[in-house]
Amino acid sequence: MAEGDRRRWDERYTARGAPPVSAVDPPDLLARHAKEFPAAGRALDLACGQGAGAVWLARRGLDVRGFDVSAVAIDQAREVARLAGVAERCHFEVYDLDDGLPPGPPVDVILCHKFRDRRLDGAIIDRLAPGGLLAIAALSEVGATPGPFRAAPGELPAAFAPLERIAGGEGDGHAWLLARRAR
Ligand SMILES: C[S@@+](CC[C@H](N)C(=O)[O-])C[C@H]1O[C@@H](n2cnc3c(N)ncnc32)[C@H](O)[C@@H]1O
Repeated sequence: MAEGDRRRWDERYTARGAPPVSAVDPPDLLARHAKEFPAAGRALDLACGQGAGAVWLARRGLDVRGFDVSAVAIDQAREVARLAGVAERCHFEVYDLDDGLPPGPPVDVILCHKFRDRRLDGAIIDRLAPGGLLAIAALSEVGATPGPFRAAPGELPAAFAPLERIAGGEGDGHAWLLARRAR
Protein backbone atom coordinates (compact mmCIF):
# COMPACT_ATOMS: atom_id res chain seq x y z
CA MET A 1 0.00 0.00 0.00
CA ALA A 2 1.16 3.52 -0.71
CA GLU A 3 2.69 5.25 2.31
CA GLY A 4 0.18 8.10 2.03
CA ASP A 5 -2.78 5.68 2.28
CA ARG A 6 -1.29 3.98 5.32
CA ARG A 7 -0.77 7.38 6.97
CA ARG A 8 -4.39 8.32 6.29
CA TRP A 9 -5.62 5.16 8.05
CA ASP A 10 -3.31 5.91 11.00
CA GLU A 11 -4.65 9.46 11.21
CA ARG A 12 -8.24 8.24 11.05
CA TYR A 13 -7.68 5.77 13.92
CA THR A 14 -5.71 8.30 15.96
CA ALA A 15 -8.62 10.75 15.66
CA ARG A 16 -11.15 8.04 16.57
CA GLY A 17 -9.20 6.68 19.56
CA ALA A 18 -9.58 3.21 21.05
CA PRO A 19 -13.21 2.49 21.86
CA PRO A 20 -14.18 1.53 25.41
CA VAL A 21 -14.79 -2.21 25.62
CA SER A 22 -18.47 -1.59 26.38
CA ALA A 23 -18.77 0.07 22.95
CA VAL A 24 -17.05 -2.71 21.01
CA ASP A 25 -19.96 -4.30 19.17
CA PRO A 26 -19.30 -7.15 16.76
CA PRO A 27 -20.07 -6.60 13.09
CA ASP A 28 -23.76 -7.36 12.36
CA LEU A 29 -22.74 -10.24 10.14
CA LEU A 30 -21.32 -12.05 13.19
CA ALA A 31 -24.01 -11.12 15.68
CA ARG A 32 -26.87 -12.14 13.37
CA HIS A 33 -25.35 -15.53 12.53
CA ALA A 34 -23.59 -16.34 15.78
CA LYS A 35 -24.81 -19.94 15.80
CA GLU A 36 -22.87 -20.69 12.59
CA PHE A 37 -19.51 -19.89 14.24
CA PRO A 38 -17.46 -22.51 16.06
CA ALA A 39 -16.49 -21.95 19.70
CA ALA A 40 -12.93 -23.23 19.27
CA GLY A 41 -10.26 -23.40 16.59
CA ARG A 42 -8.27 -20.89 14.57
CA ALA A 43 -9.50 -17.67 12.95
CA LEU A 44 -8.09 -14.88 10.80
CA ASP A 45 -9.45 -11.32 10.82
CA LEU A 46 -8.25 -9.60 7.63
CA ALA A 47 -7.97 -5.79 7.83
CA CYS A 48 -9.10 -6.08 11.44
CA GLY A 49 -9.10 -2.35 12.27
CA GLN A 50 -9.68 -1.86 16.01
CA GLY A 51 -10.34 -5.56 16.46
CA ALA A 52 -14.08 -5.67 17.22
CA GLY A 53 -14.57 -8.80 15.11
CA ALA A 54 -11.43 -10.50 16.39
CA VAL A 55 -12.39 -9.84 20.01
CA TRP A 56 -15.88 -11.26 19.41
CA LEU A 57 -14.35 -14.43 17.92
CA ALA A 58 -11.86 -14.71 20.79
CA ARG A 59 -14.65 -14.29 23.34
CA ARG A 60 -16.37 -17.23 21.64
CA GLY A 61 -13.23 -19.30 22.25
CA LEU A 62 -11.31 -19.05 18.97
CA ASP A 63 -7.60 -18.21 18.67
CA VAL A 64 -7.47 -15.23 16.34
CA ARG A 65 -4.77 -13.62 14.21
CA GLY A 66 -5.73 -10.11 13.13
CA PHE A 67 -3.90 -8.17 10.42
CA ASP A 68 -4.07 -4.54 9.46
CA VAL A 69 -1.78 -2.11 7.67
CA SER A 70 -2.37 0.60 10.30
CA ALA A 71 -0.02 0.38 13.30
CA VAL A 72 -2.38 2.68 15.22
CA ALA A 73 -5.33 0.34 14.63
CA ILE A 74 -3.22 -2.66 15.70
CA ASP A 75 -2.20 -0.94 18.97
CA GLN A 76 -5.85 -0.12 19.64
CA ALA A 77 -6.94 -3.68 18.82
CA ARG A 78 -4.36 -5.06 21.29
CA GLU A 79 -5.64 -2.70 23.98
CA VAL A 80 -9.28 -3.64 23.32
CA ALA A 81 -8.40 -7.35 23.51
CA ARG A 82 -6.52 -6.80 26.77
CA LEU A 83 -9.40 -4.90 28.34
CA ALA A 84 -11.85 -7.55 27.12
CA GLY A 85 -9.72 -10.22 28.83
CA VAL A 86 -8.92 -12.13 25.64
CA ALA A 87 -5.40 -10.91 24.90
CA GLU A 88 -4.03 -14.44 25.15
CA ARG A 89 -6.32 -15.59 22.32
CA CYS A 90 -5.68 -12.57 20.06
CA HIS A 91 -2.51 -11.99 18.09
CA PHE A 92 -2.50 -8.74 16.11
CA GLU A 93 0.13 -7.85 13.51
CA VAL A 94 0.83 -4.86 11.29
CA TYR A 95 0.70 -6.41 7.84
CA ASP A 96 0.07 -5.17 4.31
CA LEU A 97 -2.41 -7.48 2.58
CA ASP A 98 -1.13 -6.15 -0.75
CA ASP A 99 1.56 -8.79 -0.13
CA GLY A 100 -1.07 -11.56 -0.05
CA LEU A 101 -2.27 -13.60 2.93
CA PRO A 102 0.42 -14.16 5.54
CA PRO A 103 1.48 -17.81 5.63
CA GLY A 104 0.02 -20.17 8.21
CA PRO A 105 -1.99 -23.33 8.79
CA PRO A 106 -5.60 -23.85 7.62
CA VAL A 107 -8.16 -22.00 9.74
CA ASP A 108 -11.75 -22.56 10.88
CA VAL A 109 -12.97 -18.99 10.35
CA ILE A 110 -11.90 -16.12 8.09
CA LEU A 111 -13.44 -12.74 8.76
CA CYS A 112 -12.98 -9.97 6.22
CA HIS A 113 -15.23 -7.10 7.21
CA LYS A 114 -15.44 -3.90 5.18
CA PHE A 115 -12.31 -4.71 3.20
CA ARG A 116 -12.20 -6.03 -0.36
CA ASP A 117 -9.16 -7.14 -2.31
CA ARG A 118 -10.11 -9.47 -5.17
CA ARG A 119 -6.51 -10.71 -5.41
CA LEU A 120 -6.97 -12.51 -2.06
CA ASP A 121 -10.09 -14.49 -3.02
CA GLY A 122 -8.33 -17.69 -4.10
CA ALA A 123 -5.99 -17.70 -1.10
CA ILE A 124 -8.94 -17.15 1.27
CA ILE A 125 -10.74 -20.20 -0.13
CA ASP A 126 -7.58 -22.32 0.00
CA ARG A 127 -6.83 -21.29 3.59
CA LEU A 128 -10.13 -22.55 4.99
CA ALA A 129 -10.01 -25.94 6.68
CA PRO A 130 -12.75 -28.42 5.69
CA GLY A 131 -15.96 -27.04 7.22
CA GLY A 132 -14.28 -23.65 7.68
CA LEU A 133 -16.44 -20.53 7.57
CA LEU A 134 -15.93 -17.31 5.60
CA ALA A 135 -17.67 -14.13 6.75
CA ILE A 136 -17.08 -11.28 4.31
CA ALA A 137 -18.69 -7.86 3.95
CA ALA A 138 -17.78 -5.09 1.52
CA LEU A 139 -19.07 -1.91 0.01
CA SER A 140 -21.32 -2.67 -2.97
CA GLU A 141 -22.40 -0.92 -6.14
CA VAL A 142 -25.94 -2.17 -5.46
CA GLY A 143 -27.87 0.79 -4.14
CA ALA A 144 -24.87 3.11 -4.46
CA THR A 145 -22.84 4.89 -7.10
CA PRO A 146 -20.35 2.46 -8.72
CA GLY A 147 -16.74 2.95 -7.66
CA PRO A 148 -13.46 1.05 -7.68
CA PHE A 149 -13.77 -0.05 -4.04
CA ARG A 150 -17.32 -1.37 -4.40
CA ALA A 151 -18.23 -4.96 -5.22
CA ALA A 152 -20.12 -5.35 -8.49
CA PRO A 153 -23.60 -6.91 -8.37
CA GLY A 154 -23.26 -10.62 -7.55
CA GLU A 155 -19.49 -10.34 -7.06
CA LEU A 156 -19.16 -12.03 -3.66
CA PRO A 157 -21.22 -15.18 -4.45
CA ALA A 158 -19.36 -15.51 -7.77
CA ALA A 159 -15.92 -15.01 -6.21
CA PHE A 160 -16.58 -17.60 -3.50
CA ALA A 161 -18.68 -20.01 -5.58
CA PRO A 162 -16.51 -23.01 -4.52
CA LEU A 163 -17.88 -22.51 -0.97
CA GLU A 164 -21.37 -23.50 0.20
CA ARG A 165 -23.46 -20.38 0.67
CA ILE A 166 -25.13 -20.09 4.08
CA ALA A 167 -26.48 -16.54 3.82
CA GLY A 168 -25.77 -13.35 1.96
CA GLY A 169 -27.22 -10.27 0.40
CA GLU A 170 -26.57 -6.91 -1.19
CA GLY A 171 -28.28 -3.54 -1.13
CA ASP A 172 -27.98 -0.02 0.25
CA GLY A 173 -24.35 0.04 -0.84
CA HIS A 174 -23.33 -3.08 1.07
CA ALA A 175 -22.70 -6.72 0.16
CA TRP A 176 -22.08 -9.62 2.50
CA LEU A 177 -21.68 -13.36 2.40
CA LEU A 178 -21.43 -16.20 4.87
CA ALA A 179 -20.17 -19.40 3.26
CA ARG A 180 -18.56 -22.67 4.28
CA ARG A 181 -15.95 -24.93 2.76
CA ALA A 182 -17.23 -28.47 2.24
CA ARG A 183 -16.25 -30.95 4.96
C1 LIG B 1 -13.28 0.12 6.69
S1 LIG B 1 -11.94 -0.40 7.71
C2 LIG B 1 -12.60 -1.91 8.38
C3 LIG B 1 -11.93 -2.31 9.66
C4 LIG B 1 -12.58 -3.50 10.38
N1 LIG B 1 -12.52 -4.71 9.60
C5 LIG B 1 -14.00 -3.16 10.76
O1 LIG B 1 -14.92 -3.76 10.23
O2 LIG B 1 -14.18 -2.29 11.61
C6 LIG B 1 -10.76 -0.99 6.51
C7 LIG B 1 -9.45 -1.45 7.14
O3 LIG B 1 -8.61 -1.97 6.12
C8 LIG B 1 -7.27 -1.67 6.46
N2 LIG B 1 -6.49 -1.82 5.24
C9 LIG B 1 -6.60 -1.11 4.09
N3 LIG B 1 -5.72 -1.55 3.17
C10 LIG B 1 -5.01 -2.57 3.77
C11 LIG B 1 -3.96 -3.42 3.33
N4 LIG B 1 -3.43 -3.31 2.11
N5 LIG B 1 -3.49 -4.35 4.20
C12 LIG B 1 -4.02 -4.46 5.45
N6 LIG B 1 -5.01 -3.67 5.91
C13 LIG B 1 -5.51 -2.74 5.08
C14 LIG B 1 -7.36 -0.26 7.02
O4 LIG B 1 -6.26 0.10 7.81
C15 LIG B 1 -8.67 -0.35 7.81
O5 LIG B 1 -8.43 -0.71 9.15
